[in-house]
Amino acid sequence: MNIIKKTILAMSLASGAAFAAGEVSVTIDAAKPGPVINKNVYGQFAEHLGTGIYEGMWVGPNSKQPNTKGWRNDVLGALKELHVPLVRWPGGCFADEYHWREGIGPRNKRPVKVNTMWGGVEENNAVGTHEFFDLAELLGAETYVNGNLGTGSNQEMAEWLEYMTSPSKSTLAELRRKNGRDKPFKVDYFAVGNEAWGCGGQMTPEHYANLYKTAAEFLKAPHGQSPKFIASGGNDNDTKWTEVLSANVKHKMDAISFHYYTIPTGKWEVKGAATGFAEGEWISTMKNTMRMDELIKNNVAILDKNDPSKKVGFYVDEWGTWYDVEKGTNSGFLYQQNSLRDAVVAALNFNIFHNYADRVKMTNIAQMVNVLQAMILTDKDKMLLTPTYHAYRMYVPFQDATSLPVSMSGNGQYSVGSVSVPQVSASAARGKDGKVYLALVNTNPKEAADVSVNVAGAKAGVARGQLLTADAMDAHNTFAKPQAVKPVPFEAKASNGKLQVKLPAKAVVVVAVE
Ligand code: AHR
Repeated sequence: MNIIKKTILAMSLASGAAFAAGEVSVTIDAAKPGPVINKNVYGQFAEHLGTGIYEGMWVGPNSKQPNTKGWRNDVLGALKELHVPLVRWPGGCFADEYHWREGIGPRNKRPVKVNTMWGGVEENNAVGTHEFFDLAELLGAETYVNGNLGTGSNQEMAEWLEYMTSPSKSTLAELRRKNGRDKPFKVDYFAVGNEAWGCGGQMTPEHYANLYKTAAEFLKAPHGQSPKFIASGGNDNDTKWTEVLSANVKHKMDAISFHYYTIPTGKWEVKGAATGFAEGEWISTMKNTMRMDELIKNNVAILDKNDPSKKVGFYVDEWGTWYDVEKGTNSGFLYQQNSLRDAVVAALNFNIFHNYADRVKMTNIAQMVNVLQAMILTDKDKMLLTPTYHAYRMYVPFQDATSLPVSMSGNGQYSVGSVSVPQVSASAARGKDGKVYLALVNTNPKEAADVSVNVAGAKAGVARGQLLTADAMDAHNTFAKPQAVKPVPFEAKASNGKLQVKLPAKAVVVVAVE
């Protein structure tokens, strides 16, 4: 517990603060701004996987489907509403099998490969470097390019970076021009491999750290144009990657990545269904997703020891729910339905990430469209927005906002059998518009929570924003009923100087306090 939280808790205990049974007291200290929540905490991930890119976003410039430079206008329009700050591409596991030269030049001349990583389908390389940067520019997003360490080489990665960033008349820069792009592309982040402990090459952290150092040495971009370099880190409760990398790599490593997926059963073999689950799998999902806090904490403790000046970021560049695939779909496509439960999961994670804003400066939910915990699902020319999309939309004011300390008391546990989680999760920040924003999540699918909010150091007469909830735990949008789950306006008024929020069961609320 930090000093502010301890003081506030001590004050409320000393004053014998009266909380009605079941009432949660939240205090936001608006006078003690914390670190800025980097907008890239709301980053996205688009891999050559299933219909995540092809069909879901890319239809090609000659398609009847309205598009801009080959990218679906309906999907682009929806994503723009999320202010997508950053997109990671081309994988994932796919990145370590991707050879960038196969994705440039006339599209009809590009080689057709087998996507041996995902579904064994044909990969025609229609989306390559130029198309990816078109997408990023259309969205106004920063770019995160994941290099191929597994089946590529240091030379291949170095030449890709030169191709993308050089303003010179080098043969590679001229090739880029010949392919239609005069100005260098803006590469904001570049990663050396992905999941080196698994699909990226089954390496040990020590072996990878040595490979990383050598590769990074040769990754060069013009002065002032260098991307931030990301080393591929660990996953789940394995902290060894953070330990080894932060102790041994002292040069050209701006961040270590980390992956953690929320699986309802906690077992990869039978993960649990996306819909039609019982309350036992609702709460286990909440419990498992909230492990993110402890996982980040453990890794950050290592970074604080080895990198006390906080030069190295901790990027959770893959996270989200992972369920059993929908029946009748290609099991290599990782297509799953997305329900209210996913929106609650997303919001719980946002609230966790905000607490580590000084280290966690990027996260990328897996993935943007049609794959795992997606923002958007498509079916040919149709598109729907998922509950997760709505959670992202509601949290937009937190992008580049200044985090504010939040303390809570009286927060009960929501339990099913022997599994318990805190009922309410809260987070606050001062937005770029100067307003104080508060996000609240109720993990309990059956009981509302009375939340009393004290904003120390700012006026709190009323709070207005949006509420996302539904009748059923697995409520979701379908192509027949695409608006079944969507946010509605929400308002809470103050009494005795405190906002009184009736937080419905299984809900996410984001409000601006005025
Ligand atoms: O997001 C799907 C896959 O999950 C990614 O390709 C890989 O990095 C992870 O195992």
